[in-house]
Amino acid sequence: MSLVIQEIPARDAPIELLLLADPSEDKIRSYLSGSTCFIASSNGTVVGACVVQPRGSGAHELMSIAVQPAHQKSGYGTALLKWIVEFFRKSGASQLEVGTGTFGYQLAFYQRHGFRVTSIDHDFFVNNYPEPIFEDGIQLFDMLRLALKYPSKVA
Ligand SMILES: CC(C)(COP(=O)(O)OP(=O)(O)OC[C@H]1O[C@@H](n2cnc3c(N)ncnc32)[C@H](O)[C@@H]1OP(=O)(O)O)[C@@H](O)C(=O)NCCC(=O)NCCS
Repeated sequence: MSLVIQEIPARDAPIELLLLADPSEDKIRSYLSGSTCFIASSNGTVVGACVVQPRGSGAHELMSIAVQPAHQKSGYGTALLKWIVEFFRKSGASQLEVGTGTFGYQLAFYQRHGFRVTSIDHDFFVNNYPEPIFEDGIQLFDMLRLALKYPSKVA
């Protein structure tokens, strides 16, 4: 698999792609400013994207990650997430955070890469979106907060 991952200006973020991960365009646009956008391309075609926002004290939050439906389950999401984890490790970040639903393959996707559950944001999806959100026919109510903590470097 040949995948090129690069940082792009937030104003050029592929909104249609990011909508796969977050159904609210308003929310995406609100967190894009102040965030860093990365795209993953294969043979010149953008197949994946993610948005990361600084959270203070060396923490960064993965706000969104998505792969084009036609290219899902091909390893691109894993490659992009691994790249992001390494990028922020090398930048000296203290931890990478993410919020996701309480069930579904996305939860395994993050935990496989070392993310651990830190808290539950009860009713996040009903309080923050105008329409109910369903995944596999089940309504999403609560958001699980996860974090991958980077070991601190000993001087
Ligand atoms: C989550 C996402 C970025 C993963 O990207 P990907 O390129 O499909 O991921 P990979 O091919 O590396 O596969 C990672 C794992 O997810 C699984 N997976 C990916 N898409 C899946 C789907 N639609 N249904 C079930 N499992 C899926 C893969 O089978 C794989 O699991 P395995 O290692 O046990 O086989 C991508 O599926 C996506 O864009 N989903 C929609 C948006 C989304 O939910 N984003 C996350 C918001 S929290």
